[in-house]
Amino acid sequence: MRFFVDTADVAAIAELNDLGMVDGVTTNPSLILKSGRNILEVTKEICSIVSGPVSAEVVALKAEDMIAEGRKLAEIAENIAVKVPLTWDGLKTCKVLSDDGLMVNVTLCFSANQALLAAKAGATFISPFIGRLDDINLDGLELISDIRQIYDNYGFDTQILAASIRTANHVTQCALIGADVMTAPPSVIKALATHVLTEKGLDQFTKDWAQTGQKII
Ligand code: G3P
Repeated sequence: MRFFVDTADVAAIAELNDLGMVDGVTTNPSLILKSGRNILEVTKEICSIVSGPVSAEVVALKAEDMIAEGRKLAEIAENIAVKVPLTWDGLKTCKVLSDDGLMVNVTLCFSANQALLAAKAGATFISPFIGRLDDINLDGLELISDIRQIYDNYGFDTQILAASIRTANHVTQCALIGADVMTAPPSVIKALATHVLTEKGLDQFTKDWAQTGQKII
């Protein structure tokens, strides 16, 4: 499973990228707001760091305007994936831009039928939001599983980009189900390295080593 990092924080992206943890980046209007940066400038900087797909989201609501915004975002770099919302206008935009040969990430997906429509409109990525479904007592992971089965049943090559990932368990379950990609904030990716038994074991080794009185260097 490929790892995308869900942030517009350039320093955080660079740190994870240096460790080989970043296969791509996803951003959205809320993350651009959080960065305090201009969308065109920060996206260009991200694309200079990461060679994989970098999602940049349109903000218009009408297809004609979304298409224009998408084309402008795509001029930033060759690895831009234009992110569009899962609305009827977003699907129209997806079809036009994917026919142009651009990568399109259809976002704000909350149902298997929405994912089916995105695949038929030529989406490169579909972004089902797991955490936001869990927030309203629905099962986000079940949606990933349903989309996996539907895409496999019919050979759709749209990649499942599991989004709104909040926990380590989300990551494990997405990998088991067979999501193609997951996108998570840097804090969630870093937290995957932690385990209480790792900390406990290391603490014991450190104490025992001190008692040997030895040094390696
Ligand atoms: O990639 C989508 C993501 O940014 C949404 O995450 O935690 O705001 O639901 P969250």
